[in-house]
Amino acid sequence: MSRLIVLSNRVTLPNPKSTQAGGLAVAIEDALNGIGGIWMGWNGKKTTNRQHTFDVLKDHQIEYHTCSFSEAEYQGYYCGFANGALWPLMHDQNQYIDYTDQDYQIYQDVNLKFARQLQKIAQPSDMIWVQDYHFLSVAHYCRQLGMRNRIGFFLHIPFPETAKWKDLVCAPQLAVHLAQYDLLGLQTQRDQKHCYEFLKTTFALTAHSPNTLRNGQRQVEIKAYPISVHPTAIQRRAEQQASMDLPFDFSADPDVKHIISVDRIDYSKGLLQKVNALRQCFQQSPEMLSQIRQFQIASPCRLEVPTYAHLYRDFQKGVEQLNQEFATEKPVFDCYYDTLSHHALMSLYRKAEICWVNSIYDGMNLVAKEYIAAQDPQDPGILILSKYAGAAEQMKEALIVDPHDQYSMIRALKRAITMPRTERIARYKALFQGLLDYDILHWRDSILKDLKHVGSQYIYRPLSKQKAHHLSLQH
Ligand code: G6P
Repeated sequence: MSRLIVLSNRVTLPNPKSTQAGGLAVAIEDALNGIGGIWMGWNGKKTTNRQHTFDVLKDHQIEYHTCSFSEAEYQGYYCGFANGALWPLMHDQNQYIDYTDQDYQIYQDVNLKFARQLQKIAQPSDMIWVQDYHFLSVAHYCRQLGMRNRIGFFLHIPFPETAKWKDLVCAPQLAVHLAQYDLLGLQTQRDQKHCYEFLKTTFALTAHSPNTLRNGQRQVEIKAYPISVHPTAIQRRAEQQASMDLPFDFSADPDVKHIISVDRIDYSKGLLQKVNALRQCFQQSPEMLSQIRQFQIASPCRLEVPTYAHLYRDFQKGVEQLNQEFATEKPVFDCYYDTLSHHALMSLYRKAEICWVNSIYDGMNLVAKEYIAAQDPQDPGILILSKYAGAAEQMKEALIVDPHDQYSMIRALKRAITMPRTERIARYKALFQGLLDYDILHWRDSILKDLKHVGSQYIYRPLSKQKAHHLSLQH
């Protein structure tokens, strides 16, 4: 029987649940529940020596295959190439690209390590589904190892335009590696176009259809599959958690509208832009000081990467200055610098009258979808959503803002605090229906259906020995 093998950098291990797991790991967990399979990835730990074997753990329908990283792997693969080169490139922030050739080499070694483990455990009929920018090269190594399995890939973050890739010298090689997948899944139509063009022009593949490129007998399908959430499960959870202990006090000021934002402290999230917009808003309209309060979950992350450490410091400073400048009894920008459990988040979403997602570039942004799913249908809150978040392609009934334009953000805030309930309900209904029509199971099922189809139609021919040797020499 054909099994599903999912590979992602982060894995939510059962008992105890990993607190580090973010939106991606939660989405994969949701996607695997019900159908089962193997989930492979990093166990979140670092060891002194390189771990070659994987630990296996079975829990209900899911078998977990995880390994630790050595310090060198963590620095080179995770901090250096994945988050020092690919993350800024893919979020249109090329000025932050900072990595060494050695980081790239280690990234390739880690991709090879996971390909070897896949080769060890996969039966020929198994489907392999690789997640995210940490593993652009895994299919290439699987093919070199002689594997003919159907291998799909899903990129959870944006795919940049071809011109942006010029800042990475290894871009042509990565294009070759990506073309070894049978199916490439992207978050939005915008990303689909960028990926298609990149492979077509960089690897000179032949266009077969608007979704398909060919290289001789090999074919790669490139399609958009917007990721989502489990709206009815979130709705139930948010109802049940209404009275949970939270890090913010909603009851203290009943006349104030509370704005909730939940972000990792990442330069793609538009955090400094939000602080500056609020400053401008309070200077221009001081009456807003008694009308809104910002509650921000700001989770520190990737602090070993210098850009993140700098941003963390600048953001904290910006928030402190804002609170001093507009000193009221309570901070106007109340920040909680940690992560929260999923249950607590759902409760926060239910209570907050406004949710503000201010990304300057974002793959999808599941906070936007979770917030809508968690609302009380009789008295829903309002979503303020950046036009640069992937979610904006689907969630048109949100108040769409440009995080580079302070006035567009201030206008949306003013509109949100005065919006009549009938309009709130109408917007919510349309947004919630969108979530029901395209939920997380729809996302998973459409990808797996397509992966089954592409894999069965086109037989993979292994690279000639000479070509394989040439490619392995290139990194
Ligand atoms: C965000 C992105 C995911 C990415 C993850 C990595 O959630 O949306 O695409 O995989 O960050 O987070 P990490 O904590 O592992 O660096």
